[in-house]
Amino acid sequence: MELKDKSVVVGVCGGIAAYKVVEVVSRLKKLGADVDIIMTANAQKFVAPLTFRSLSHRPVITDMFDEPEYWDIKHISLAKKADLFIIAPATANMIGKLASGIADDMLSTTVTATKAPVMIVPAMNHDMYSNAVVQQNIERLKGLGYIFMEPDTGVMAEGTSGKGRLPEPASIVDMAVGLLKPACDLKGLRLLVTAGPTRENIDPVRYISNYSSGKMGYAVAQAAAERGADVVLVSGPVSIGAPRGVKLISVNTANEMRDAVLKEFPDCDAVVMAAAVADYKAAEGSQLKIKKSDDDMVIRLEKNPDILKELGNIKGSRILAGFCAETDHLVENAMKKVEAKNLDMIVANDVTMEGAGFGTDTNIIKIIKRDGSVTDLPLMSKLAAAHKVLDQLRLISKNEIF
Ligand code: CTP
Repeated sequence: MELKDKSVVVGVCGGIAAYKVVEVVSRLKKLGADVDIIMTANAQKFVAPLTFRSLSHRPVITDMFDEPEYWDIKHISLAKKADLFIIAPATANMIGKLASGIADDMLSTTVTATKAPVMIVPAMNHDMYSNAVVQQNIERLKGLGYIFMEPDTGVMAEGTSGKGRLPEPASIVDMAVGLLKPACDLKGLRLLVTAGPTRENIDPVRYISNYSSGKMGYAVAQAAAERGADVVLVSGPVSIGAPRGVKLISVNTANEMRDAVLKEFPDCDAVVMAAAVADYKAAEGSQLKIKKSDDDMVIRLEKNPDILKELGNIKGSRILAGFCAETDHLVENAMKKVEAKNLDMIVANDVTMEGAGFGTDTNIIKIIKRDGSVTDLPLMSKLAAAHKVLDQLRLISKNEIF
């Protein structure tokens, strides 16, 4: 009963993904949370309030002016009672209203009145999601402290594909649990995280890189910040926004990442290197665009620095954690890296397994420590996996570092 005594208000807007929120509510209840539901008028066209009432065991709020069962000013009492608000699916309309201070229905009114953290989970057609006004509204709300969960990419209700799908209910609940966790067990820890790919230029229009989305490293940064750590995130080029409360340093190349990491390293207690650093770069990068010729082309590559190995040589009392994506002999290969780079632990994943590859929101990880112990974890969201990594990091520290 992880969420016993926690009060969550779920605001449901009118979108086809509203049916998935039924499972979100069911999962929150199973974790012991007290769940109240506010549905907009349009949400009720997709899912009947009765469904939510049956799951939450509470009256569902559908109207600003319905007769109260007992006298309280509902939008104020719910706003005060909530430990967390979740708005899912959040439509472009609701995001626009909140960004503009419009409070003209029960959901927007209650959210406007709350001091609880508000987690917004947008879901809409991908062209709507990428619309400049919608994106500006999202940025505005992020700047005001609202917490956003990125939509998934995939096939949409209307049959086209793109970014805008509601994430899986399990991932939404994981994020909510993270936000509700009172634990500030990493307070005092200064953590350096790296994430994403690096990009090595061949000429001004071409580069060498890899499929890393940055999601795992960003999840570690987010989870650590939620648990009270002071987090610096050195990130290669990715398409996701920095988590709240994290200092972001954006870089492109492996050498830029190395410089940024070495600069931050003296002030940190632990490093989690989740970046997929390109091992090679073009030996002779061209300042001008290379023109096509009739011949085949050979690009000579030269080695990039091994950042983590360098840190291993100067680690002192810091905790060093690496990541490795392997296709075979997972534990053996991972253990070799622990030795070679002087690490305290490594997080290994077999990228050939479904749900564990690049770009997914889930991962299947093994956490391998220097003493040879292996924590074998099942498929879970990257955020939940990030918390497991931090749990292990905390165990290694034995409170000696932070
Ligand atoms: N790493 C690094 N600098 C590099 C390459 C890797 O700091 N030039 C870090 C990664 O961020 C990761 C760890 O080292 O935390 C292991 O990365 P991986 O690519 O699995 O290891 P490599 O040493 O590059 O070995 P290989 O690619 O041959 O498996």
